[in-house]
Amino acid sequence: MNKHILENLDLLTSALTSLSAQKKWLDSKWFYDNAGSAIFEEITELPEYYPTRTEVAILNKNIDQLQQYIPDGAALVELGSGSSTKTRILLDKFDNLNAYLPLDISEDFLKHSANDIAIQYPNLIVDPLVADFMSPFEFPTNYMDRTKVAFFPGSTIGNLEADKAINLLASVHRWDKISAFIIGIDLVKDTNILIQAYDDAAGVTAAFNLNILRRLNREIGANFDLAQFKHEARWNTEKSRIEMHLVSLVAQTVEIGTKILTFAAGESIHTENSHKYTRESFEQIANQSGWNIRKFITDEDDLFAIAVLSPK
Ligand code: AVJ
Repeated sequence: MNKHILENLDLLTSALTSLSAQKKWLDSKWFYDNAGSAIFEEITELPEYYPTRTEVAILNKNIDQLQQYIPDGAALVELGSGSSTKTRILLDKFDNLNAYLPLDISEDFLKHSANDIAIQYPNLIVDPLVADFMSPFEFPTNYMDRTKVAFFPGSTIGNLEADKAINLLASVHRWDKISAFIIGIDLVKDTNILIQAYDDAAGVTAAFNLNILRRLNREIGANFDLAQFKHEARWNTEKSRIEMHLVSLVAQTVEIGTKILTFAAGESIHTENSHKYTRESFEQIANQSGWNIRKFITDEDDLFAIAVLSPK
């Protein structure tokens, strides 16, 4: 079947289920349609959104230290090959790498960015792999017994609840010949800094959040009135995470096909979690999933960390 139809079916099933729950929610993976991906790029350049620039600075400043964890001839495997800027910092320096394997669920995007990298790094084998790294997948046979280093920047692990984060860490730990895992972690900090990073003055994050409703309208024929919902960023102390919500401004109904959703005034759709860690809380989930922390590199304001893990 046509892959766009299948994707819309996937979105429809997912949205109908999560919006029928007692506490309405949407899976944050649906943020990233073309418009959403473009708005996310804008977010990464906002003055309030510190993670991207801080992580890039940490990588640039500590790249020599990081190189000692790259065995000769290793393959660098990137989970979700979004940000080519960060990958390039590694590829520019790690000239002993043999191959780069970006993993992504979005085939078009993956093929496109892998092709750019292949042209810019002619000595590197670039083998894009269409895979959902949250589910089991197989490496191509020629990579089975190749030493691997995993790279998961962006603090994307923060989207996952603790049990899912542990599953992810444990599944990378089970890869054949995995020697290190370089992962970006966003840190607990002053609540105001966190709230502002997810509710910026220019309203870019609000537009990012609301765009998911526009997508539901376009792709599965919903009739959300975007003017009747408001973006909110909340700090959940107990779960140590920023939550994004879309709050209904009035009592209203919304239709998705024959399904009618009822909203009370002030009722929210929970659209994203972004968990923040301390070294200790991250070490706990890393240890539980078979890893030791070899390095935990932060910026001078302790905003963000790059952790280097090795199997216990
Ligand atoms: C891409 C998941 C790391 O949680 O900071 C940014 C997504 N959401 N602003 C994050 C996001 C709102 C981002 N991650």
